[in-house]
Amino acid sequence: MTLSTKHVLLIIAGGIAAFKSLELIRLLRARGCAVTCVLTKAGAEFVTPLSLQALSENRVYADLFSLTDESEMGHIQLSRSADLVVVAPASADLLAKMAGGHADDLASTVLLATDKPVLAAPAMNVRMWLHPATQANVATLAKRGVHFVGPDEGAMACHEYGPGRLSEPPMILAAIEALLDPGRRPLAGRHALVTSGPTHEPIDPVRYIANRSSGRQGHAIAAALAELGARVTLVSGPVAMPDPPGVAIRRIETAAEMLAACQNALPADIAVFAAAVADWRVANATDRKIKKTPDGSAPGLSLVANPDILATLARPGPERPGLVIGFAAETNDVAENATAKRLRKGCDWIVANDVSPETGIMGGVENAVLLVTAGGIETWPRLAKEEVAKRLAARIAEALQETPHPGPLPQGEREKKSPLPLRARAAEQTEVGGGVRPPGSENTAP
Ligand code: C5P
Repeated sequence: MTLSTKHVLLIIAGGIAAFKSLELIRLLRARGCAVTCVLTKAGAEFVTPLSLQALSENRVYADLFSLTDESEMGHIQLSRSADLVVVAPASADLLAKMAGGHADDLASTVLLATDKPVLAAPAMNVRMWLHPATQANVATLAKRGVHFVGPDEGAMACHEYGPGRLSEPPMILAAIEALLDPGRRPLAGRHALVTSGPTHEPIDPVRYIANRSSGRQGHAIAAALAELGARVTLVSGPVAMPDPPGVAIRRIETAAEMLAACQNALPADIAVFAAAVADWRVANATDRKIKKTPDGSAPGLSLVANPDILATLARPGPERPGLVIGFAAETNDVAENATAKRLRKGCDWIVANDVSPETGIMGGVENAVLLVTAGGIETWPRLAKEEVAKRLAARIAEALQETPHPGPLPQGEREKKSPLPLRARAAEQTEVGGGVRPPGSENTAP
């Protein structure tokens, strides 16, 4: 959908996160959405009216008592001129003013006078966010119908850790789009294939080789894509996770079964390979349980490499999904290894994470990832795996937004009309295929 007929009134309060409002304006303007900025006094300490004006291509309002503003557009008119009022960042102070009904500057006056929906994206120190006063203000505002996006949890500019970070601009954009067009689901009509969990490679009918993947990250990605309207096929190894709602699930055990299930699920517009596929399977697996020998000698296991599902499906061809995303679980040199892996596997993006035992990421509930694309490397804060999934889904929706909808094209036509712009594809890649590594070093989305 397009926001080109919409108008957002963006209120920027004080805080180190105020600089992110510039990116939000850019995203909104790229969608044709009109943006009018209101800058608080504290906000002006962090961003300049000139930057806001240049990006919004619109006049910036700051002073409640400016006669010029009153003659051109009074604060009442300003408060009602937009389809949605967005407060990003929403400081603890501005939230308190909103809850208390204050009107002592332009931002608070506009928020008191408006008859339009309000979306607040809080950003503050973790203690300020967790303070009962702020929590009570947020509860009061939510009860009155104010919508919230975030805050995110992670490392803060003040060197503390916890909830309080401003949501990333794509997430705020997704919340804006959801409010301005509630029926809209940006991935509606798209088919997403997601792999998740470990694979089990049998040794005999009762024993197998496995790994510690919980499937939490892959399942959360499937759920997040479905929430944005995609038809999702989740190919999952054995996990204890509940099935994500609204997702078609294909349960498999081995890597070979996972590859077949993925190939059967094609065509897909998006493919996210989050599974921790076993790199090796047992070549001499038996149909009958291997007996212990009287002399106590152990049976020899002969291993053979499993197919690389990601590299196979990322190969250029009519069936290649438009956006192919792999994962890289590393214990060292994460950025370098992930960058090399993106090229080696032939995928468009790599979501990389550090799975050293001390991070607690493998099998844990949080993840700290780098997103490696053709355009560079983004470092995301440590977030709950569900938040990582939502953010990734929002990025996917953003990447597919401006591209033609593939629709039911005949085979062979799909490649020409890939939903991704050329620059986002791994077109420069020449080498495809996995490297050799020792058994047990499975890749993963933990
Ligand atoms: O090479 P490595 O195993 O680290 O690559 C990790 C990425 O490749 C993950 O996205 C994983 O799901 C995928 N993969 C795969 N099939 C394999 C091995 C890895 O799809 N056999």
